[in-house]
Amino acid sequence: MRLVFSLRLLLLGALCAAGSAAAADRLGDPQAGKAWSDENVCKECHNPDGNSTVAEYPRLGGQQAAYLYKQLRDFRDGRRRNVIMQALTQELGDAELANVSAHFSAQPMMKGAVPSTNVLGRSLFEQGDGARGIPACSACHGADGKGRVAGGLAYPAIGGQHRFYLRGQLQDWRSDTRHNSPDGVMNHIARSLGDKDIEALADYLSGL
Ligand code: HEC
Ligand code: HEC
Repeated sequence: MRLVFSLRLLLLGALCAAGSAAAADRLGDPQAGKAWSDENVCKECHNPDGNSTVAEYPRLGGQQAAYLYKQLRDFRDGRRRNVIMQALTQELGDAELANVSAHFSAQPMMKGAVPSTNVLGRSLFEQGDGARGIPACSACHGADGKGRVAGGLAYPAIGGQHRFYLRGQLQDWRSDTRHNSPDGVMNHIARSLGDKDIEALADYLSGL
């Protein structure tokens, strides 16, 4: 079941990659987004260039614009839950969310300070574990872990993200606390991950 989900997403991705990448480029206006962000609170937690230095606040720098836009609408419309982000997006329109997404996406790509030598984390990221039904993360999130847009789906950058945040999101996918991924794909994947796998992945990915 799990592999069918993943394969379907991958196939869709391969078929329509070109068209939707162009659509994502037109998503918002980074200049308007910067002006708006200068006047708003986002930078207080996520930093002006999106590369937050506080482990609880995810890095947004270089993140796929289409992914950021989807998350902001998901917070606003209640598909993804977080007290702070739901409150902050309540009054915002699609255009503001698209512009601020384009702005943070145009900032320097998030990057880990120190590369990790975690063997289990690297092997799950690059190869997955077929016997346990875990697909390679890199198949969707890109060989470098910096995300991609394919087939109308935005696969976020996870390489260079904060370790604390990555661990929290993987636990939330596993427990269904977060359930806004297309076809529930991340919930299916995370259910096969043990605590040791999550620790190893958060360690390895945060160093990319
Ligand atoms: C008080 C701190 C704070 C402020 C201000 C703030 N955020 Fe956040 N933001 C967070 C936290 C905490 C999360 C992680 C939520 C979670 O764990 O699901 C988050 C998550 C996000 C995400 C999802 C990132 C991902 O990788 O999925 C986006 C996008 C985002 N914020 C954009 C913004 C924008 C745009 C603004 C300004 C309107 C903003 N944030 C203001 C704290 C903040
Ligand atoms: C079949 C494709 C696919 C595979 C394989 C996959 N992911 Fe994902 N992942 C996604 C999609 C799509 C999203 C975005 C969900 C959304 O739109 O909310 C995502 C989101 C995430 C997020 C949330 C990022 C953020 O900024 O909040 C994390 C963390 C993550 N994946 C980790 C992993 C790890 C670790 C693996 C390997 C064990 C993996 N993923 C394998 C498709 C995939």
